Amino acid sequence: MNIQALLSDKVSQALIAAGAPADCEAQIRQSTKAQFGDYQANGVMSVAKKLGMPPRQLAEKVVQLLDLGDIASKVEIAGPGFINIFLNANWVAHQADLVLSAPKLGIAPVAPQTIVIDYSAPNVAKEMHVGHLRSTIIGDAAARTQEFLGHKVIRANHVGDWGTQFGMLIAYLEKMQNEHASDMGLSDLEQFYREAKKNYDEDEDFALRARGYVVKLQGGDDYCLKMWRKLVDITMAQNQITYNRLNVTLTEDDVMGESLYNAMLPGIVADLKAKGLAVESEGATVVFLDEYKNKDGDPMGVIIQKKDGGYLYTTTDIACAKYRYETLGADRVLYYIDSRQHQHLMQAWTIVRKAGYVPDAVTLEHHMFGMMLGKDGKPFKTRAGGTIRLSDLLDEAIERASKLIAEKNPDMSAEEMQNVANTVGIGAVKYADLSKSRTTDYIFDWDSMLAFEGNTAPYMQYAYTRVASVFKRAGIAENDLTLPLVMTEEREIALATRLLQFEETLTVVAREGTPHVMCTYLYDLAGLFSGFYEHCQILNAESEEARQSRLKLALLTAKTLKTGLDTLGIDTVERM
Ligand code: ARG
Repeated sequence: MNIQALLSDKVSQALIAAGAPADCEAQIRQSTKAQFGDYQANGVMSVAKKLGMPPRQLAEKVVQLLDLGDIASKVEIAGPGFINIFLNANWVAHQADLVLSAPKLGIAPVAPQTIVIDYSAPNVAKEMHVGHLRSTIIGDAAARTQEFLGHKVIRANHVGDWGTQFGMLIAYLEKMQNEHASDMGLSDLEQFYREAKKNYDEDEDFALRARGYVVKLQGGDDYCLKMWRKLVDITMAQNQITYNRLNVTLTEDDVMGESLYNAMLPGIVADLKAKGLAVESEGATVVFLDEYKNKDGDPMGVIIQKKDGGYLYTTTDIACAKYRYETLGADRVLYYIDSRQHQHLMQAWTIVRKAGYVPDAVTLEHHMFGMMLGKDGKPFKTRAGGTIRLSDLLDEAIERASKLIAEKNPDMSAEEMQNVANTVGIGAVKYADLSKSRTTDYIFDWDSMLAFEGNTAPYMQYAYTRVASVFKRAGIAENDLTLPLVMTEEREIALATRLLQFEETLTVVAREGTPHVMCTYLYDLAGLFSGFYEHCQILNAESEEARQSRLKLALLTAKTLKTGLDTLGIDTVERM
């Protein structure tokens, strides 16, 4: 059920009948104040301007021609020509009834698109750290949302699994195997990387061997490829543990690392040269872009192949965009990468478009996000100043949640406690990130994310258990609710109207990749439910009809909260 789309269609028809062009926009928005009704149409003013007509006069004509049937109880013109629409409570009740029994909460089928989502993207032989956390969490919510709407989602984990550092990593893995006859040291990836680098910097022979391995690996040497594979596999197996703990849907099948594009790179460079886009400059191959100026105001040069023949991160992203369109058949490609890589992506995509690798109809979208900061407003670090390992962070989240849950539920079994603490702890870390507009930096603060009040995971998870328990306490099953939904109280109507806005919310999240819009909606919904619950008797309602009706509202609220949280990758529990 999408009321906005429905009204948009009806008001556009009236606008056209009143003389507006066929592509006019009704501009239907949810009203922000009750006195303006439930929705308002703001499109009259701009159409009137085009037609050279006084806006109020056009508004009057539109209202006359507008056929809303039983959808609205009242339509008013306000200000210079806004049209305020007040929904009819009976219509709302009937729609809520339909949604309750429809599959997928009555979400309309979409014309399915193929959407490639680039997220998480950790680096091989390096521990995943908090910097990868935002990409993983927000990207996964985007993937779940698009999939729920019915799109075909291809998860692309653009792992950093290629580059000159592999010479040194292979040489160090070899050294360890010789000395310890095992790969043990890889259990601490951060340490492994540090040691490899140290050997490279301090041991001449080691460095020589490492450089040799880079060349051999690029030439497809069997031994080097085998060692490389080992490094990739061990890293990804560790990352998979983190994904599972985080309730993130990525699997090892979703890995499409940088190495995948390696074989395409010589062809890309040759093609860009042939198209006259790339030129030789001081031994390197460079694309000069007029769109970007360097310090001196000259077109910026983007290197795609170095003097020594090596390719760059940008070259890989050019090939990658091409592959996602040509081979994966993408209609949209969403990149969840932090904002510091914005210019890099824009340069790569400018080249992609100029070379005609991806047509304009296919969108390449950078859904960027800011940094994760500590309470002091500085990049989030350990007390000693090191980067925080994701696994340590998650351990702490669960430990803190355990304490809270134990305080609130002294009689819970140890097993249930563990389960609830996991769900709440992990949920808190994820929700704290998801609930803030992704474009800004955000402050990581344990106390506020684990609070049971406010727009937090524990609050939302608790709200769900409360709503669900009302229904359970009634001791009746969903199928026993046979009477139609009818509403008389303001609070019932407000709750039902908001419940019907779930699809509108999903649509915004899917279009803009902004999960915080879903969080705000669910939080609002939980608040409206509280108001309804406090003021309207459910189990002791004045009639059987009202009792069933209110139970239906509680049930639909529980289902909407659960489904909404699920699109965010946040689990629920039955009690806490
Ligand atoms: N591995 C990179 C990093 O850790 C992120 C890759 C993002 N995806 C892309 N297509 N460039 O910074």
